Amino acid sequence: MNQAAIIPAHGADEQLLLKIDRREPVADGVVTLIMTSAGGGALPAWSPGAHIDLVLPNGVTRQYSLCGDPADRSRWRIGVLHAPASRGGSEYIHTQLRAGDALKASHPRNNFPLEPAGRYLFIAGGIGITPILPMLAQLSATNADWRLLYGGRSARSMAFVEEIARLAGGVVDICPEDENGLLDLDACLSGHEPGRLVYCCGPEPLIEAVEDRCRSWPAGALRKERFSPSERHAPLDPGEFDVELARSGQRVRVPADQSMLSALEDAGCTITNSCRAGICGTCLVKVLAGIPEHNDDILSDQQREAGEVVLPCVSRSRTATLVLDL
Ligand SMILES: Cc1cc2nc3c(=O)[nH]c(=O)nc-3n(C[C@H](O)[C@H](O)[C@H](O)COP(=O)(O)OP(=O)(O)OC[C@H]3O[C@@H](n4cnc5c(N)ncnc54)[C@H](O)[C@@H]3O)c2cc1C
Ligand code: FES
Repeated sequence: MNQAAIIPAHGADEQLLLKIDRREPVADGVVTLIMTSAGGGALPAWSPGAHIDLVLPNGVTRQYSLCGDPADRSRWRIGVLHAPASRGGSEYIHTQLRAGDALKASHPRNNFPLEPAGRYLFIAGGIGITPILPMLAQLSATNADWRLLYGGRSARSMAFVEEIARLAGGVVDICPEDENGLLDLDACLSGHEPGRLVYCCGPEPLIEAVEDRCRSWPAGALRKERFSPSERHAPLDPGEFDVELARSGQRVRVPADQSMLSALEDAGCTITNSCRAGICGTCLVKVLAGIPEHNDDILSDQQREAGEVVLPCVSRSRTATLVLDL
């Protein structure tokens, strides 16, 4: 649940052409890609927690967190886990992509920004370390008070451990499950500590376990990023509703068995989108009237309550009509 305002991405949907400079295995099942601008020159600025959409030559688009140095505008680094039963993203990256290949990518987008706090606790599971790594580097450079709990299946499967060990200042607990068991969440999440922000990224069971322990905490004390949609998206609210496009006055019926995004596309409306699963934030649209039924994994509780934006790829409407800024 991220508290920072999310700005609709429309307008920033121009694609960048990147070239793979280096591809390196960094742990069992994890490779890093170092990418530069294919035309040379500086890449767009980004901040820790940001991700890009990578458009692979096989037509698949997937999101990857930037995990290099934001101050180095000459290159981007991503770390990619070879997902079991991959439907084409990580499988292609691991088996087909080579140094020298060209790739299209979106501008960076940040749904998981590092906010000012007195102290930080980071909880990373497996490849969920990627968005957190640049946060740790930034906090180390400013002598901030931070602690990292980093769990993985085994030491060999855990990427960037040596890089993390070189960071100054923080307290780091590396916890390979086959040696030490699961992360001791009860010990570090026994109660809300005012002034402390908790950031979590990792597999769904880890995020759910952290959420369970933080349910009674003030809104915003826990920030998390999911790499895959949470269970609650299925089934979607089956009700029908209308969308009114404020700029043209056009009304679009959204049937019970179709997503709002897909109904809008069928009606000729272009909405930039990527994951179509409520986890990337690309399709975010402003709501001008009506009450959305939020089904995404991006918006904070306050943003849901305010109802000023909606992710039409998964969300629906509680009111008969939703008026969108389209
Ligand atoms: C904001 C964001 C940042 C991300 N950052 C990173 C990152 O830094 N590094 C990284 O490695 N990943 C990251 N991801 C995840 C990444 O975008 C991809 O989802 C991941 O690489 C898997 O893609 P894939 O095509 O290989 O697997 P997919 O085909 O998308 O499958 C993913 C998983 O779904 C399951 N699955 C496969 N087929 C099916 C099916 N038919 N039905 C149901 N389930 C199935 C499998 O368990 C599989 O492992 C991020 C995602 C988001 C949203
Ligand atoms: S397309 Fe990713 S959140 Fe809607």
